Amino acid sequence: MRSEKGKIVTVTSAKGGVGKSIFLLNLAGIYQKLGKKVLLLDLDFSGGSLAVSLNVAVSKTIYNAIDDLVHNRYLGIEEYISSYSDLIDVVSCPKDPRQATKIEIRYLDTFLERASFAYDIILVDTTHGFSKNNIVIYDNSDMIVYVMSNDLLDLKNSKNFMSIMKDIEMDHLRVILNHSLVPNENYFSNFDIRTMIQWNIDYTLPTDYYIKNITGYLLEGMIPSLDQKTWDRKYQKDKKQLIKMATDFIGEDDYSGEENVD
Ligand SMILES: Nc1ncnc2c1ncn2[C@@H]1O[C@H](COP(=O)(O)OP(=O)(O)O)[C@@H](O)[C@H]1O
Ligand SMILES: [Mg+2]
Repeated sequence: MRSEKGKIVTVTSAKGGVGKSIFLLNLAGIYQKLGKKVLLLDLDFSGGSLAVSLNVAVSKTIYNAIDDLVHNRYLGIEEYISSYSDLIDVVSCPKDPRQATKIEIRYLDTFLERASFAYDIILVDTTHGFSKNNIVIYDNSDMIVYVMSNDLLDLKNSKNFMSIMKDIEMDHLRVILNHSLVPNENYFSNFDIRTMIQWNIDYTLPTDYYIKNITGYLLEGMIPSLDQKTWDRKYQKDKKQLIKMATDFIGEDDYSGEENVD
């Protein structure tokens, strides 16, 4: 067991389909390149996709983990994970969405506390939008990574999201503007967006991160950033920036291990 606790980074959004889960998978790939041990925790209770995207078999899920904690029969995180690689494990969302409604979310902090001794980073995926569950998840996160698209409806949603975040003083937040969902459809400038949402944009994912055959990757359980060809073509020129972003999320932005990443 590690002595230092891992960081909990939650990826969220106001709108669905803005590229959260794909971004989270790519981020996991970057952490693997940095030699970090990562747990992907799928708390998208409306139909999480991580285990399917990674093509791993699932037996127990977060529902079983929390149920076992509640009933005092939790043995250890190893019981609930599917392993993707030496450094990446996944805890899946419930297979049956009805189970999701029965999860006693107040036990999430106990689950995270225990898991954080076994991983450097716990990357949490969420259902989009404000909900009781999400507020508990945000409360338990070291960093909230908010993904938004360049889309009128999302800008409106994001403005509301940011104003609530200000109200509840959740400022451990980074805003990611995703330009890579649809190539060449960027109607608003960063200045327009900043003005509309009244929040800073911390990082932008450029149009050229768009992956034409993304479904092919998902069908094969391949993380794009871990595919050497895609890494060389799409990401490597921004290597420093990507590593800065990934390390910033875990509070290590003075990290200087980039020369190990190729
Ligand atoms: N980098 C990308 N390149 C190409 N298509 C993308 C990319 N990111 C997301 N998409 C497309 O958008 C869809 C939604 O992305 P996803 O990450 O599942 O969004 P969310 O988790 O926010 O609902 C994906 O199924 C894919 O078709
Ligand atoms: Mg998703």
